[in-house]
Amino acid sequence: MPAYGVIGGQWGDEGKGKIIDVLASRADMVVRFSGGNNAGHTVMNQQGEFKLHLVPAGIFWPNSWCAIGNGVVVDPGALLDELGALEERGLDISRLSISDRAHVVMPYHVLLDQLEENARGDNAIGTTGKGIGPAYVDKTARAGIRVGDLLDETYLAERLEAVLGHKNAMLTKVYGVEPLDMDTLYRQSLEFGARLRHYVAPVEKLVANALADGKKVLLEGAQGALLDVDHGGYPYVTSSSSTIGGASTGVGVPPRHIKGVTGVFKAYSTRVGAGPMVSELFDEVADRIREKAWEYGTTTGRPRRCGWFDAVAARYSSNINGFTSAALTRLDVLDGFDSVKVCVGYEVDGKTIDYFPGSTAVVQRCKPVWEEFPGWTTPTEGATKLEALPPEAMKYVKRLEKAIGCPIDLISTGPHRDETIEVRPIMA
Ligand code: GDP
Ligand code: IMO
Ligand code: MG
Repeated sequence: MPAYGVIGGQWGDEGKGKIIDVLASRADMVVRFSGGNNAGHTVMNQQGEFKLHLVPAGIFWPNSWCAIGNGVVVDPGALLDELGALEERGLDISRLSISDRAHVVMPYHVLLDQLEENARGDNAIGTTGKGIGPAYVDKTARAGIRVGDLLDETYLAERLEAVLGHKNAMLTKVYGVEPLDMDTLYRQSLEFGARLRHYVAPVEKLVANALADGKKVLLEGAQGALLDVDHGGYPYVTSSSSTIGGASTGVGVPPRHIKGVTGVFKAYSTRVGAGPMVSELFDEVADRIREKAWEYGTTTGRPRRCGWFDAVAARYSSNINGFTSAALTRLDVLDGFDSVKVCVGYEVDGKTIDYFPGSTAVVQRCKPVWEEFPGWTTPTEGATKLEALPPEAMKYVKRLEKAIGCPIDLISTGPHRDETIEVRPIMA
């Protein structure tokens, strides 16, 4: 019966892809529930290195059926390219379903994302430019096209006629660019529909059946809790619900079925895009982390902003997700530092606080309060047993465990599937 969530605990890119690839060995289904191809999930295993954007990271395991839930926004061209590339590399992509209720990222969404970002000037969010925000705007405004609509010639024409006039008015009158041609868009959408048809399914029903049969369903998060449209540092967020609540609505899985929620945390902090990050570093430590860990975006290639672990943000993230366990990734990146720090409080307006403020204006004024720990020289890189970790690294892990407020059940010591310490079984 149980479903399990895997959620980014920070600002995305925590290593969810790696962790889901590990956990999918014991899942019957892996279902993505939010975001779109703004996500970039890296997996390294016996089959090679892969960058997934829409396809769930369970695709490498023959035991797990993969699905894209209704909460995801799907760019059909991007998905077909991704599927084609996976197939070329010998993967079985037939074990995939796409919810007929998922919304489609249309070409005008991609255009509008880029035009809106330019128009924001200094206030740009630093979006991935994949059309994600505009697609979710249309979903909420009831002006979206859904995957199921692509399969119905008559209904698709009706829907496009209902929305394209307004989109073209935006493109031409607000942004002064060329309008999109109805006929071209219609034909292209129908072609995408024809190519995706055999994947389209009522995903919520597949999940309900799997749960009723006692199967294990892994709910795959994208982005991170601090990018959640409600709980993140608004407006520097993505446009979907990347916390565990989004898993329930984004798949149609009742909350009572969710038995465990694993938060994935990096052993330090990174962020790509704009918005405050209290523990950000601007010195050689940030450069050292960035270069050593190759902290450049999986989707856009942009350099990631780097800083020490933010315990205030981590506890907040844990509270809003109810993490039952955590997976700590990239511990090996900190090998060889003389000392490592954790941001344990924020100093703002003459006070020290230990709660993540709702107001972004306040977060912008916060300064980090550090706790410093001795570093370690014995490498953790590639370790597969807890006993292999040097005592200083263990002490650091224990401090992070206290900060997050739940057991760290899995420690990742390298990008490869096998470079993993499973302290206690997750999804057992
Ligand atoms: P995701 O979006 O959360 O799936 O994370 P990304 O794939 O965007 O970024 C995480 C990066 O860290 C990828 O390059 C992974 O290969 C890498 N990675 C994951 N876990 C580890 C780890 O424990 N150690 C190291 N060195 N790299 C890791
Ligand atoms: P994964 O799943 C890191 C960030 C963007 C930008 C903000 C809004 O790989 O962890 P959007 O294109 O969503 O409108 O951009 O959100 N962002 C991510 N940052 N990892 C991601 O996904 C992200 N998806 C979006 O950089 O700051
Ligand atoms: Mg990523």
